[in-house]
Amino acid sequence: MKFPNGPQTPVVVQMLRWIVNPMLFMEACAKSYGEIFTLRLDKNLPPLVIVSNPQAQQQILTTDTKELEAPGDLNKVFEPLLGKHSVISISGAEHQRHRQLLMPPFHGERMRNYSQVITDVTKQVISQYQIGKPFNIRSATQAITLRVIMQAVFGLHEGPRAEKLQKFMSELLEKASSRLSVALLYFPALQRDFGPINFWGNQMRLQQEADKLLYEEIRERREQADSSRTDILSLLMAARDEAGQPMTDEELRDELMTLLIAGHETTATALAWALYWIHKLPSVRQKLLQELDSLGDNPDPGTVFKLPYLNAVCSETLRIYPVAMLTFPRKVRTPISLGGYELEPGTVLLGSIYLTHQREDIYPEPKQFKPERFLERQFSAYEYLPFGGGARRCIGLAFAQLEMKLALAQILSSKELELVTKGEVRPKRRGLVTGPDRPIEMVVRSQRQVKSPILQTTTV
Ligand code: HEM
Repeated sequence: MKFPNGPQTPVVVQMLRWIVNPMLFMEACAKSYGEIFTLRLDKNLPPLVIVSNPQAQQQILTTDTKELEAPGDLNKVFEPLLGKHSVISISGAEHQRHRQLLMPPFHGERMRNYSQVITDVTKQVISQYQIGKPFNIRSATQAITLRVIMQAVFGLHEGPRAEKLQKFMSELLEKASSRLSVALLYFPALQRDFGPINFWGNQMRLQQEADKLLYEEIRERREQADSSRTDILSLLMAARDEAGQPMTDEELRDELMTLLIAGHETTATALAWALYWIHKLPSVRQKLLQELDSLGDNPDPGTVFKLPYLNAVCSETLRIYPVAMLTFPRKVRTPISLGGYELEPGTVLLGSIYLTHQREDIYPEPKQFKPERFLERQFSAYEYLPFGGGARRCIGLAFAQLEMKLALAQILSSKELELVTKGEVRPKRRGLVTGPDRPIEMVVRSQRQVKSPILQTTTV
């Protein structure tokens, strides 16, 4: 089978570069081999064809699944954490069934319920930071997004079980973020429990503790059914597929874990990056504050959501260092022609969100943070794709955007923050997401009053 060009270095060298700094590796390959190239990371697995051309991205994301599928078995890397029944691990009709059951809590009317939760949780978390005392911004944004997703999923983030679960989730994600953990995911032979000092074993034990709590919660909900509850777990328990079947306990556990993990770490990282850029570039902060202040005190969430400059800042944050650097893999089922190459069945394709967002021809000066580019022109869904697309497009897209905007609005309107960390912070693989390569420290300088209140006229 002929594949697009790519590095000829031994697989183990390619795998190490992939684990240590995939962004740099992809950039180097794009320079040498162009917008479609092949990586060989494992001699027992098919090579990976990496794509960063928008037309090719469109073809990959819109081709009928009979020709190009997005199989869950290629996401095995997530299975130890999310389980076999997670929407991420399953394929075909089963995958569609889970998406249909999972999507309603993330649509229109439901989203409004989350606005208050996001604003309240952000206020609580940010009020804990004292004036003049530096703190790690990612810890703050993680606390916000974990509490918000706990509240959205379970309808509560207080009480002993919720607190224990939050603690386990934080520890689990912290461990999953290390390079060692990423390496273990890519080398399944090392995924063994070697006793109490063992890294993988410790991670599994934490996961078992979290599972115990999740199953307890599911059992209690089944015993005390309450049709007035509107949290995601209640909606999922009440949902029926086309055959009238509900989700099993195992399916529920895996989807809860998926939503807690996918819905927490991603948005926390995006928020941390946004706060970094806003405070690194005084002109960005000034324009944003001007726009936010024009809404007065306690602005309506629907109006905040539609603010053009805030939207541009959030979009640019997810462009420059996309939290997910790749789409999930797609597999060729019938021969296709892509970017001048004839690809055979079995070829595995990955859309490089990172490389697409770094294209000079679409985003002039791609390494510069410039929200204005999103005010000056519209980008197609294949030039700008932080949430992927097609059959596996992110389920939490609207939720993440709402959370980013409302949390930023709340933080910026109430506190004068300052960046303590000096110099450039670069992206680095942090477990499942692309995060900052070192802690970003910030400090609260003072409380902030909204400067020019005007009357509110709109509602959500
Ligand atoms: C800034 C925040 C986020 C980013 C950048 C992001 C990005 C992505 C990307 C790139 C994909 C893969 C899409 C593809 O392959 O075409 C994805 C899938 C997914 N995301 Fe997100 N996501 C975010 C937040 C969330 C949130 C808040 C949730 C849920 C509460 C969520 C749940 C999911 C799920 C369940 C999938 C798997 C969909 C499937 O396999 O069918 N994500 N996300």
